[in-house]
Amino acid sequence: MGKEENTMLQSDIAVVILAAGKGTRMKSNLHKVLHPLGGRPMLHHLMDTLKALNPARKVIVVGAGKEQVEQSVGDQAEIVVQNPQLGTGHAVQVTKDQLQDFSGDVLILYGDVPLLSASTLQELLNKRRDQSDPAVVVLGFEPEDSQAYGRLVVDDEGELLSIVEYKDASPAQRAIGLCNSGIMVIDGARMFGLLDDLDDNNAAGEFYLTDIVALARARGFGCSVSVADETEVIGINSRRELAGAEAIFQKNKRQYFMDAGVTLIDPETVYFSYDTVIGQDVVIEPNVFLAPGVTIEDGVVIKSFCHLEGATLRKGAVAGPYARLRPQADVGPGAKIGNFVEVKKSVIEEGAKISHLSYIGDAVIGAGANIGAGTITCNYDGFNKALTEIGRGAFIGSNTALVAPVKIGEGAIVGAGSVITREVAEDALAVTRVQQKEIGGWALSFRARQKK
Ligand code: UD1
Ligand code: MG
Repeated sequence: MGKEENTMLQSDIAVVILAAGKGTRMKSNLHKVLHPLGGRPMLHHLMDTLKALNPARKVIVVGAGKEQVEQSVGDQAEIVVQNPQLGTGHAVQVTKDQLQDFSGDVLILYGDVPLLSASTLQELLNKRRDQSDPAVVVLGFEPEDSQAYGRLVVDDEGELLSIVEYKDASPAQRAIGLCNSGIMVIDGARMFGLLDDLDDNNAAGEFYLTDIVALARARGFGCSVSVADETEVIGINSRRELAGAEAIFQKNKRQYFMDAGVTLIDPETVYFSYDTVIGQDVVIEPNVFLAPGVTIEDGVVIKSFCHLEGATLRKGAVAGPYARLRPQADVGPGAKIGNFVEVKKSVIEEGAKISHLSYIGDAVIGAGANIGAGTITCNYDGFNKALTEIGRGAFIGSNTALVAPVKIGEGAIVGAGSVITREVAEDALAVTRVQQKEIGGWALSFRARQKK
């Protein structure tokens, strides 16, 4: 298929995302589809996957919690309220105002089924565009445990005859291994005509979207099946299922990064986010959590027990063990962040070292500077944040408090235990502690007094 033709076809897609279910099993005030997976709302995983298909329209069907969903997706989709919720077929019927003039392909997705890949969706759409011009193509899967899923009734030629809901199925139908993921693509030109014929005369008393297959058949239209891997079509209804989906997401990320040249000594203990970026020849030791917004360049080593969020580690930098890098921590090439060091909104230039027990916030640390153990930037006075600037090659002695705003010149040395409140000039020594005093024999006489 030529590129131009491909683009033309892809813009001929409308997407309906069903999300009107009550989500009661989540036990949450947050709408189910907004619960995060890999660091972002599950609904956004789906929206992001859809970008590859470039749909002309996106409609999200919600029940309660419209405002939350609206706020989260902004103008990325239209939102339609389904109230009351009379079943999946009814949920698609309520998009009539938005889609009745649409004659392209309508893709039906679910806000709580976020792990679908673009290639699986593309395959499904390609089947809809088959010469036989099927009215409906359903995404099936063969689960390990087929539970209460709807069953796909297929003939010898692989044509889909009907979908039977578990509640309505005979024992023979329940024995079918091919199940309905719920996801399907429907020819927009025929969709509402078919949906008009749905009824709720079934075990659940709902308007089943799945009945559209038998209705299409009755009118002589073809229907077919495309098959996906179970891991892509799992739905999330509870916190347990959310954790199960997270496990699949993390497993995929671990495999992806190892294949891309990242060494994970114990992969199961390293966690990634949807937007994590990692270069080549990076080593990540066990027990590391990468929250959203992390970029790790080539040759970086992250030692055990680090938490990173919104941070960048440039070429050859080293962090940890036990480092915490918070948003806008920018650790330069070859720089070192050691144990129990927290860095926030600071630029650590090339080769600088902060090796032990420090808090560095709202700071610029010049190239090659050495920040002694226990150094603290006092960046906050309870109202405002202020900047600490440390010049190239400066040396900050252990247990120093840098009261911001403050500047330490290039090559300057600050004596250990100082509280620095004023600018220190280039190459100067600044010490603020009281002078040491010594009283000879005092300890002896002290002990003698105590013994009396
Ligand atoms: C549905 C399918 C079943 C399939 C299963 C896959 C039907 C009739 N059955 O069953 O064949 O195997 O999904 O998980 O479609 N929803 C609405 N409005 C409604 C009802 C549902 O938006 O009125 C949304 C829900 O938010 C949910 C999805 O549709 O995301 C599926 O609804 P659910 O009630 O879970 O359907 P199942 O009985 O699981
Ligand atoms: Mg369900």
